Amino acid sequence: MQTPTFIQLHRIDDRAMADEAAAGLLAAQAHVSPKFFYDPLGSRLFDAITELQEYYPTRTEAEIFAVHGAAMAEAARDATGAGPVMVDLGAGNCAKAARLFGRLEPRRYVAVDISVDFLRDSLQHLQREHPAMQMVGVGLDFSAQLQLPERLVDGRGLVFYPGSSIGNFSPAQALRLLRDARATAAGGALLIGVDLVKPVATLEAAYDDELGVTAAFNLNLLNHLNRLLGADFRVRDWQHVAHFDTVHSRIQMHLQARHAVTVHWNGGRREFAAGERIHTENSAKWAVADFEDLLREAGFGAVRHWTDPQGWFAVFLAAG
Ligand code: AVI
Repeated sequence: MQTPTFIQLHRIDDRAMADEAAAGLLAAQAHVSPKFFYDPLGSRLFDAITELQEYYPTRTEAEIFAVHGAAMAEAARDATGAGPVMVDLGAGNCAKAARLFGRLEPRRYVAVDISVDFLRDSLQHLQREHPAMQMVGVGLDFSAQLQLPERLVDGRGLVFYPGSSIGNFSPAQALRLLRDARATAAGGALLIGVDLVKPVATLEAAYDDELGVTAAFNLNLLNHLNRLLGADFRVRDWQHVAHFDTVHSRIQMHLQARHAVTVHWNGGRREFAAGERIHTENSAKWAVADFEDLLREAGFGAVRHWTDPQGWFAVFLAAG
């Protein structure tokens, strides 16, 4: 039986994170990167979001994999050859990739997340179920750059990026990540989940659910900033706002001041007027043709996709 190995490539630097958050709070339009959502409570709140009736992406993507998994695996094997190296971006509990193991039979599974600590338990558990597969956990902030040690992807790879997290990047960052994914696959393929444009009411309900779980997820960012920056945000001074911006085809999430507030933190302060907002997240919604164009711009050749009957979500396989 193999044992998983772990490599932490990215140094988690609280000081740099704090400086980045403070700079965003001081910008003319205050903003904070969505990566600050994911403290331990934020990660649990996100898991709860994925179970909400209004939040269609997770279950719709799962349905697409269930219905079209065999066709996807066959197309992926055509692109990578038998026994590819599978690189799972933002792997977390590794459950989505593990569901494809039976069909893809990767010879090596490389799970990437910001910290190897998120991967230890899941990889150790998975290794018991797949004793012959090489498993590697890599701690890396691939939102900055995706570059893995060459020995990990020796031959054509399958880069797997489900969950539509590509939508949380700016168009320029998304293109950069797709280019990096193509280089990582080294002539193999990328299998990626992408959320599609749909009626505005459906989109806005998914990001402003009746139970208020998404509101709690957004507001919890303030608690995280309080710890990280020594700030004095009070959650009750702020309100969750989510709306669909048709010009940029994206949901935008903000925190809006309920009244005039002054926020202090170690080394800084800012006054917010009543109604002023902190921009916390974009979640892009694509038309199939536009995402195909983006994949081609990133250098991919052959592109296929599978979708659900309503055309709400798509999984793309891009090769070359
Ligand atoms: C992680 N990401 C794909 C989610 C999304 O739908 O953009 C994050 C999220 N934000 C609010 N709800 C879910």
